Amino acid sequence: MQTQRCLRDIRRTLRKMREEQQQQQQQQQQQQQQQSLSMYEKLGRIGEGTYGVVYRARDKKTNEIVALKKVRMDREKDGVPITTLREVRILQHCCSHENIVHLMRVVQGNQLNNVFLVFEYCEHDLASLLDNMRQPFLESESKCLIVQLLKAVEYLHDRWIMHRDLKLSNLLLNNRGELKLCDFGLARSFEPEREGEEESDEEIEEEEDEEDDNGKKRRRRKKRQMCYTPKVVTLWYRAPEVLFGDDAYTASIDIWAAGCVLAEFLKHDPLFPGKTEVTQLELIFKLLGAPNERIWPGWSKLPNVGTTLVPEQPYNYLEHEFPNLHQRGIDLLNLMLTYDPKRRCSAKDALAHPYFKTQPRPKLKSEMPSFPTLHSRVNKNENDFGEKF
Ligand SMILES: Nc1ncnc2c1ncn2[C@@H]1O[C@H](COP(=O)(O)OP(=O)(O)OP(=O)(O)O)[C@@H](O)[C@H]1O
Ligand SMILES: [Mg+2]
Repeated sequence: MQTQRCLRDIRRTLRKMREEQQQQQQQQQQQQQQQSLSMYEKLGRIGEGTYGVVYRARDKKTNEIVALKKVRMDREKDGVPITTLREVRILQHCCSHENIVHLMRVVQGNQLNNVFLVFEYCEHDLASLLDNMRQPFLESESKCLIVQLLKAVEYLHDRWIMHRDLKLSNLLLNNRGELKLCDFGLARSFEPEREGEEESDEEIEEEEDEEDDNGKKRRRRKKRQMCYTPKVVTLWYRAPEVLFGDDAYTASIDIWAAGCVLAEFLKHDPLFPGKTEVTQLELIFKLLGAPNERIWPGWSKLPNVGTTLVPEQPYNYLEHEFPNLHQRGIDLLNLMLTYDPKRRCSAKDALAHPYFKTQPRPKLKSEMPSFPTLHSRVNKNENDFGEKF
C-alpha cells in the first residue's frame, strides 16, 4: 500500500517536471520568435546602401513601423562585415540621443546568416527629400535642421566618437520635424590624448586568444602602431586634411562635413560637388582661397601637398556665393570651413554662434513642414526581406 503511494508520488513529480520543462521550452521558443524576423511584416523597400538593403516593416504585435537594415554578409571573410559590427557596437553602447537614430534590436532571419538591424523608422532622408521638394527649405527651417545635426555631433564628440560619413543621405527626418543622424558604418571612437595618432581601423577590431604562463587563455588586443584610414567621408563632404592624405585627422572632419551640409541647405545645391579628389580640392581652393603655412601651420608637410597643384588664389568668396546671407551666417560658415583643423570650430562653438539668435530664428521642430513619404508603396513582388520563409 505504502509502496503504491510512493510510486504515485514519484509519477506525479515526474509529470510536473515534464510539464515545467515543456513550459520552459515554449517560453524559450516564444522569446526566440519575439527576437526574430518573423515578428515583422515587410511593407516595402526603402533604399539600398553600400552595406545593405533597408526595408520598411510593421511589428505584428505592436503595429509599430520600423526600418530593417539587412546586413550584407562579407562573403570573402565569411561573416558579419566590420561596418556592421562598428554600427551595432557604437549605437548599442554609446548612443542614446534624440538626434541619433535609435537601434532597437538586432534580429536573425530564417536563414542563419541573415541578420537585420531594427531601427526606429523615419519618413525621409534629407538627400531624397531635397531632390523631391518643390520649394527648398526656408532659412529658419535650415537652421532648425542644422542645430539638430550639431547637437548629435556635439553628443558624439563629447563621447569621443567621430561619425566620419556626414552627408544628406545619412540624415533622416521624421514627420515631427526631428532630424536623426544614421549610418554609423564608418564611425569609430578616438582617444582624447592620442587623438589623431591611433591604431588602425582594422586593429581596433582585432582581438586574439593567447595563453599565459599557466596555460590559461585570455583575450589580448593586438597593438600595432598605425593611423586612421584615409578613405573616409563621401567626397563632397570630405575635409581638406583628408584630401591632402593626412592619416592623423581628428573629429573636426565632422565639422567640415556639417559646414558643407549647412551651405547646401542655404544654397539649395551641394557646395563642393567634386568628381575626383583633385577637382574636389580645386573647388575648395576656388571658393575659400588656397591654403598656406600662415593660415594652416603644418599644411605643407601633409603627404599629398607635393603632388597637388595649388593655385595663386588668396581670396575667400563665401560672401559672393551667399549674397543674401547675414554676416553672422558667413562667419559661422567660415568657422566650420576653416582649413586648419585645430582652428576649426567645435560643434559646441557652432551651437553657441550668434547666427542662431539672428532673424530668421530657427523654427521649432513642431513648426517644421511635413512631407508625403515616398516609402508607402508596398512591393509585393519581392520575397519577404529578400529571403524565402
Ligand atoms: N531608420 C530609418 N528610417 C528610414 N529610412 C532609413 C532608415 N535607415 C536608413 N534608411 C534609408 O536607407 C538608406 C541607407 O541606409 P544607411 O545609410 O544606414 O545604409 P548604408 O548601406 O550605410 O548606406 P550608404 O552606403 O548609401 O551610405 C538611407 O539613406 C535612408 O534613405
Ligand atoms: Mg548611408
